[in-house]
Amino acid sequence: MTVWRAQMITPAARFDSAPLMRTQFDLAGGHGPVIAARLSLSALGVCEALLNGRPVGPELLTPGWTSYEWRVRYAQHDVIDLLASTTVLAILLGNGWYRGRLGWTGMRAVYGDDRAAFAQLEITYADGHVQHIVTDESWRAGPGAITADDLYDGQDIDARRHDDAWLTPEFVEPAGWDGVRVVDFDTDRLSPRSGPPVTRTQQITPERVWTSAAGHTLLDFGQNLVGWIRLVAHGDAGSEITVRHAEVLEDGELGIRPLRTAAATDRYILSGGNDIFEPTLTFHGFRYAQVDGWHGTPQDLLDAATAMVIGSDLRRIGSFECSDPLLNQLHHNVVWGMRGNFLDIPTDCPQRDERLGWTGDIAVFAATSAFLYDVGGFLRDWLTDLALEQAHHRGVVPFVVPDILKYEAPGTFMPLIEPTAVWSDAAVWVPWALWQAYGDRTVLADQYDSMTAHVRRVATLLSPDGLWDSGLQLGDWLDPDAPPEHPARAKADPSVVATACAYHSTALVAQTADILGHDADHASLSALAQRIRAAFNRHYVTDGIVLSDCATVYALAIAFDLLPDACDRATAGERLAQLVIQNDFRVSTGFAGTPYVTDALTMTGHIETAYRLLQETGCPSWLYPVTMGATTIWERWDSMLPNGSINPGHMTSFNHYALGAVADWMHRTIGGIAPLAPGYRTILIAPQPGGTLTWAEAGLDTPHGRAHVRWDLDGDTINLKITVPEGTNAILRLPGHPDTELPPGTRRISRPCASPLSDSTRPTS
Ligand code: BGC
Repeated sequence: MTVWRAQMITPAARFDSAPLMRTQFDLAGGHGPVIAARLSLSALGVCEALLNGRPVGPELLTPGWTSYEWRVRYAQHDVIDLLASTTVLAILLGNGWYRGRLGWTGMRAVYGDDRAAFAQLEITYADGHVQHIVTDESWRAGPGAITADDLYDGQDIDARRHDDAWLTPEFVEPAGWDGVRVVDFDTDRLSPRSGPPVTRTQQITPERVWTSAAGHTLLDFGQNLVGWIRLVAHGDAGSEITVRHAEVLEDGELGIRPLRTAAATDRYILSGGNDIFEPTLTFHGFRYAQVDGWHGTPQDLLDAATAMVIGSDLRRIGSFECSDPLLNQLHHNVVWGMRGNFLDIPTDCPQRDERLGWTGDIAVFAATSAFLYDVGGFLRDWLTDLALEQAHHRGVVPFVVPDILKYEAPGTFMPLIEPTAVWSDAAVWVPWALWQAYGDRTVLADQYDSMTAHVRRVATLLSPDGLWDSGLQLGDWLDPDAPPEHPARAKADPSVVATACAYHSTALVAQTADILGHDADHASLSALAQRIRAAFNRHYVTDGIVLSDCATVYALAIAFDLLPDACDRATAGERLAQLVIQNDFRVSTGFAGTPYVTDALTMTGHIETAYRLLQETGCPSWLYPVTMGATTIWERWDSMLPNGSINPGHMTSFNHYALGAVADWMHRTIGGIAPLAPGYRTILIAPQPGGTLTWAEAGLDTPHGRAHVRWDLDGDTINLKITVPEGTNAILRLPGHPDTELPPGTRRISRPCASPLSDSTRPTS
């Protein structure tokens, strides 16, 4: 347990730039060599610390975004190699989430107006002596070269003001430097991070540069990404270069309307020498950039500009590939959608004036994310804030975590009075996904109060019969048949969606209570779940036909196991398949139904319909964006319309992961790797070939080791190569064959293919 001696400090004066703060010190003599040096670092705002001019680590945007009202993270760095006999500890402070803009109504400085830093350097010597260098009133502060910084709007750097002298012991303070003051800050709010930090994860060079019809110099990086452009520039002192970012082009120019009020523009004033600009106190979601004021030829920009991809430094654990290049591109898009939106917290989108931790988005995407990357620490950190915000709202899980909407003026957004299905269900679905993926029950124990508080709160809203048919619901958000400006006007009855979610969450929490040994809760929540299920069937199901008779209600009723009657279930499956076929295999579901529709078809014997739906390329479908050149998952099925114009809806992002949740089905059903017991202690290897596919493979670093499946069709035979990690066992389940138990090891297996072509929807190509 670290004893905090440091104080949170802010410059005494207000500067016209991101402030610099520094101290310098000599290593203590007479104690032998330094054997350890650890820097703990935090900030109100975001900060970058340097020791003798060298960054203390690769971490960006420290300390990231948490519910600052209760929890501010700190980073820790081993800095022994950065010390010298005289050492300068320097900190640059940006606005970040604390003091910058947040949300779409122009709010800024939501948490406070003083950017401040907190640093505690503990230097341990051979004889046990510990020297403490901490932020306190002795520090000095001055102005720097960053004259504006905002996460949404971008960063301005005046290179003429750039001078590295402040990083050295020889620094002589110019006019304008001043002292600091201590900010009132309770160190109990400091909390270690449990997920990885944000870092630069990749560099991408531009694919193309050209001059647009309007005369602008445009760059294409070939990938919709999140980060910024590092620009090497040389030009007249005082001349200005601006770099504006966008995800798409429209009419051959940057398509900036979807960014709404986010300026996403970096401005650089040149020093006259060789300048290297990296706007590390902001980030943009972009594939294209417009560079104005460039001195060289457009061609020079190909060497001068590099996209720095940033995001939480998560370990990739899952892979997928198959014989259909379009599905591979879809999967690539899911991965990149995740990379851009797992930036310290799970966000809806990374580019417009939003970038918030929308609970519904991660509720449906958590399982997919947990296969692709090790997201245990990352999502558990966020769940800590979810529970804090929920407690603040007396049991109601808010729309976004950290919840900044509570600071909006009344009337700006739906008032948070009661929970909302799907969104508030994140309290249950996210920890459950982590439990399934990693088998660590502490996630259930840690979140148990939050999980139970959510379902008990929902229970108070149920009708006397057991339906969740009141309150504000977003329902099957972004149903493709909803008008662009009314994304909640879905075909699915919102009460059917809400009641299905209430059952699903209550049943999961009942299971959680059982796992954790809370017997009384298990009994009461199981009974509650059965009451909701009975009410759902009584009110919404007639001979297997579910109220509002659209794909989403069947997807939820089947996937959430709401239909106890086998005949109803079969009828519902038939009806779902029929609706999909009648709709020419175009997707007709929104946020709520989309993650479950392929599963529901598969579970009721309509796997070929599921494949056909997945492989459709007409609009709307999963592959339509792929045919339009998408490199990430879009917010709307038709964010870009077939004629190349941007969807007129006010809310049109090209990087939203929610609809990419189908990759979870691809991993389990095409690739064939699923957890039969939490954490893959027992692995279900059940690939179900279909559609036009002739081979597929999936791999996963389970908590026990690497699992891998590869299958190839050869005429009427399926040839499999399967690796089962040590310490686990697997069940091989192939259509038309009895289950086989597989011990650890790698083996090749060939089996006759059962005819899967039972329905008439197999593509003819
Ligand atoms: C976000 C969504 C979110 C929704 C709910 C949008 O603005 O981008 O992803 O879940 O609002 O209202």
